[in-house]
Amino acid sequence: MHDFFSDTKTKPSMEMRKTVLTCSVGDEQKSEDPTTIELCEKTAELLGKEAAIFLPSGTMCNEIAIKVHTQPGEEIICEYNSHIINFETGGPSALSGVMIRALHGSSGTFDSSQVTDAIRPLSRYAPISSLLCVEQTANMSGGAVWPLEKLDAVAATAHQAGLKTHMDGARLMNAVIKTGISAKQYGAHYDSVWIDFTKGLGAPIGAALAGSQDFIDRAWRIKQQWGGAMRQSGIVAAMCIYALDNNIARLAEDHHLAEILSQRISAFKKVKKVLPVETNIIIFDVMETAPTAQELTKALAKKEILIGAFGERRIRIVTHLDVNAQSGEVLITELAKHLDR
Ligand SMILES: Cc1ncc(COP(=O)(O)O)c(C=O)c1O
Repeated sequence: MHDFFSDTKTKPSMEMRKTVLTCSVGDEQKSEDPTTIELCEKTAELLGKEAAIFLPSGTMCNEIAIKVHTQPGEEIICEYNSHIINFETGGPSALSGVMIRALHGSSGTFDSSQVTDAIRPLSRYAPISSLLCVEQTANMSGGAVWPLEKLDAVAATAHQAGLKTHMDGARLMNAVIKTGISAKQYGAHYDSVWIDFTKGLGAPIGAALAGSQDFIDRAWRIKQQWGGAMRQSGIVAAMCIYALDNNIARLAEDHHLAEILSQRISAFKKVKKVLPVETNIIIFDVMETAPTAQELTKALAKKEILIGAFGERRIRIVTHLDVNAQSGEVLITELAKHLDR
């Protein structure tokens, strides 16, 4: 199987799995799991924050952060294509009772003037704007990287108006490897930042949310309330530590493969547009004369190649540590049969 559907499809390598055999474990809920504590310290250090909390998923990182930063009836600001708006089943309204103000960005990013316009003036009638969220990299915009100055500027605008700031860093390390700018720098003006161990980093479970000690203490209460507190979570945290130690620098290989694949796909006769590829995600639209995205995914699945349909004629392909140049060749050969004749 050549699985280009998502970087969430990676399977833990044998070396990663071996770490489980020897890791020390304890009751995580009581802060007694040494391996989880080590992972949280490592992540907090990486992200330049006082503390971090280990959670089962990135979705839970986003939703707990929103819960901690807001009160019911308030409003948060997110980009229109963000994961928080599109893939978290209305979590912000269901779990935190907040409204969402969606900004139409460019490549998943927006600028300070858009934030200024979106922040509601204090009034008896309007919801209070209380949180600005950004996504680094922007998944549905083809893994686009927020430029540092732009990230800093929107955070400054939000803070000046009294809002908190949150970064969905599911693929923050892809941005770091792409630009050489550290995760600390990217997250410097964000009150909460998280990274996912299950995407390009290749771990099977887990994400860690970082912020001030006070923020993390409050996040712990929500984690407990929502049933996210664990027991011997070191079994999983050990694999996440392995991911941090071994799988960050190699993200450059995923970016290189994505670049090559996007060039080949751009040359196909029936491809209308390929979004600029900056990291490991290729999003492209096919022409009316081509099979639909659903037809294409089905046809390729028959050849054991998985890609994603994200709209009538929009396809997403993601590179990661379980695909390589050889799988790329198989993918291109098969795609060409449908898109290049
Ligand atoms: C940008 C972004 N944020 C959040 C998530 C949620 O992460 P998880 O699948 O770990 O819940 C994803 C997952 O694909 C994502 O792409």
